[in-house]
Amino acid sequence: MGRRLRVLIVDDSAPTRDSLRRLLEFQQDIEVVGEAADGEEAINQARALVPDVILMDINMKPVDGITATEVISAEVPRSVIVMMSVQGEQEYLRQAMAAGARDYLTKPFGADELVNTLHNAYERESRRWLQVVPGPHLPERKGKVITVFSAKGGVGKTTIATNLAALISHELEKEVVIVDLDLQFGDVPVLLDFEPRRTIVDVVEAGEWGTEEVRGCLYEYSQNLKVLAAPMRPEEAELVGGGHVKQVIESLRPLADFIIIDTAQNFHEPVLAALDESDEIAIISTLDIPTVKNVRLCLDVMQGVLDYPVDKTKLVVNRDAEDIGIKASLLEDKLGISTCARIPSDGRLAIQAANTGVPFVLSNPRAPISQGIRELAQELAGSEEIKAAPGRTAVNRGFFGRILHRRRA
Ligand SMILES: Nc1ncnc2c1ncn2[C@@H]1O[C@H](COP(=O)(O)OP(=O)(O)OP(=O)(O)O)[C@@H](O)[C@H]1O
Ligand SMILES: [Mg+2]
Repeated sequence: MGRRLRVLIVDDSAPTRDSLRRLLEFQQDIEVVGEAADGEEAINQARALVPDVILMDINMKPVDGITATEVISAEVPRSVIVMMSVQGEQEYLRQAMAAGARDYLTKPFGADELVNTLHNAYERESRRWLQVVPGPHLPERKGKVITVFSAKGGVGKTTIATNLAALISHELEKEVVIVDLDLQFGDVPVLLDFEPRRTIVDVVEAGEWGTEEVRGCLYEYSQNLKVLAAPMRPEEAELVGGGHVKQVIESLRPLADFIIIDTAQNFHEPVLAALDESDEIAIISTLDIPTVKNVRLCLDVMQGVLDYPVDKTKLVVNRDAEDIGIKASLLEDKLGISTCARIPSDGRLAIQAANTGVPFVLSNPRAPISQGIRELAQELAGSEEIKAAPGRTAVNRGFFGRILHRRRA
């Protein structure tokens, strides 16, 4: 069974809500995720739950369904609103549709009519998201794929991925797409201050899809910088597999000069697929022993199990500070590779950028921390030549499968 349609019921009459819930709970492909008794509650529930469909009564007090529809359409545009009215509320209904409702039901209605209307409204709207005006003729290009990875959480992957993308798109004037592959807790949209309307889930659920459909799900941060957001809810992460990620990357290559992928710190299939597809991997380390130990393990895996060529992995030191932590030279000794960029520590600018949603490379391009990102960008994007996709190794064997395969070999 595919994903169930997540429905919020809004009606001021408790018996009506109960009977709607009972009708819907008979349906295997529908899940009632919440109830609200007036427009204000509906707005709060919609913000918190981001349901697929909101079944909304028109006449409610103190806040009516039209006001709620207006607010929700603007703030939670991914939720599709279906109005419920009684005969004689034609004028209200017209206002509700103008406010952003997608369909309506006239009370009393039967179970079949209800279920069909909910499914149809949602499917119509989903198709609309993915209906993309064919873009201009796509140039023959294969964007370079750079994955920002680490064996530790909180070392600055997202900070570096977003600032690197902003710098390459702004200063080098290259077209960049960031893919947020921290599938459960992606925060690229927070660092760039936008609310995603479509995410990688909309892509993978679209049945057949390719470059045009992926393009239709990108958020445009600026002319040269686009974002494919992570799922809105942690439980949606499991809808995205390694095969999807490979196809997303292949679909994005013709659209951009650089595809920059932010990751979570694990070797799960989606991240493995991104690492396989990458032309280069920026491995982020900080100068503390626990992180260095995990980065060592991570390099062993990349070189020993995954068979990546040595020059595919680039070591980046983040939060570099001479007075605390181990020396960068000691880090290089321990890891056996040299660093390609050192990004200084600047907690004030890093936090200010995260809180304002403006990357520090744009707000403070001369700051040492921005200079560190520039150094990294020159290493990774300095060459004008865009490399061809690398060959794949042991594609669908999974991480543990690859370890076993290697042990057996
Ligand atoms: N160079 C830096 N100097 C000072 N603070 C930094 C620097 N880089 C990142 N930070 C801060 O470190 C924290 C973690 O950064 P970030 O969220 O980018 O890490 P992450 O590796 O993506 O974390 P997660 O594993 O949770 O996704 C943030 O508060 C960020 O502002
Ligand atoms: Mg992160």
